[in-house]
Amino acid sequence: MSSALLDIHLTDDDADTALRADVRAGLTAYPKQLPPKWFYDALGSELFERITELPEYYPTRTERALLERSVDEIAVASGADTLVELGSGSSVKTRLLLDAFTRAGTLRRYVPQDVSESALRLAMDALAGEYPDLTLHGVVGDFTKHLDRLPRGDHRMVAFLGGTIGNLLPDERAAFLTQLRSVLQPGEQLLLGTGLVIDEKVLVPAYDDAAGVTAEFNRNVLRVLNRELGADFDVDAFAHRALWDRRNEWIEMRLRAERAMTVRVADLDLTVEFAAGEEMRTEISAKFRPGGVRAMLATTGFSRTRSWTDPDGRFALTLAAAV
Ligand code: SAH
Ligand code: TRP
Repeated sequence: MSSALLDIHLTDDDADTALRADVRAGLTAYPKQLPPKWFYDALGSELFERITELPEYYPTRTERALLERSVDEIAVASGADTLVELGSGSSVKTRLLLDAFTRAGTLRRYVPQDVSESALRLAMDALAGEYPDLTLHGVVGDFTKHLDRLPRGDHRMVAFLGGTIGNLLPDERAAFLTQLRSVLQPGEQLLLGTGLVIDEKVLVPAYDDAAGVTAEFNRNVLRVLNRELGADFDVDAFAHRALWDRRNEWIEMRLRAERAMTVRVADLDLTVEFAAGEEMRTEISAKFRPGGVRAMLATTGFSRTRSWTDPDGRFALTLAAAV
């Protein structure tokens, strides 16, 4: 018998309050910026799934191949009874972990957590049929805010895959890991997927594909603002840009105003001017060096790290225990 629970820690009202605050701060800052979690409405989550299938977007298939090779070692090393996954999205790659933990015989419960309620519900409906013996406990929430509300367990492993940690700025990343550590018992684990620093010629096209899917994904945040805040962005007047920032070692996604525009955000009673060519940052995707990942984990209270890397050195999976 399978059972499924869904906790909602992010109601429409909470999301609306947070969206308003983020958009007001971001559009009145210089340079302008928008925080990335607002990409993921139902269409945004679908577009992200299409990104994962693009020939240029190597992270998903690299991480999947890496999981295929290492899941049994991970499951045996972990012995967790609960797999928590942050930013779980479609939970497609997670099936590799669920299968390995099933083979290892320890897992009883899977707790996917995501801001996107639509993506979470789709993923849980599919999983309920495939894993009838597993307790599913979904959590709609923000991993930068609601970690303290994750269900407790005897021994949890928290998976944070897809390189999503790289979408946080360095100080946000440290705050996130510190907070995660504070809600774990000593010995509970983190499985972290990180994109590694590689050749710019491979990196940039992964965030600027020939078919323009990433461009659509990037511009989708403007559609979210038009719908949720009564804004009047001319979505097609913004061009997608992806640049490799060598100093910070991150890809920066921007939207460039192709002409001068005055944008009205009715629900915020806000008018914003864009100069022709002005660029607004919408997302970063930081890449790491193996030593950097270990250092970041050590300084936030994780130890006993073990890691796995693909043969081309593009991606790493790191398993670490809370001290
Ligand atoms: N883990 C999946 C999806 C990665 S895309 C994979 O590896 O393919 C990033 C996911 O994180 C999306 O599903 C998005 O909805 C979710 N997300 C983004 N910001 C979030 C936040 N602040 N809190 C919770 N989930 C978030
Ligand atoms: N976590 C994904 C990454 O950093 C998210 C992502 C992929 C993304 N493509 C994007 C975010 C394009 C914004 C724009 O790889």
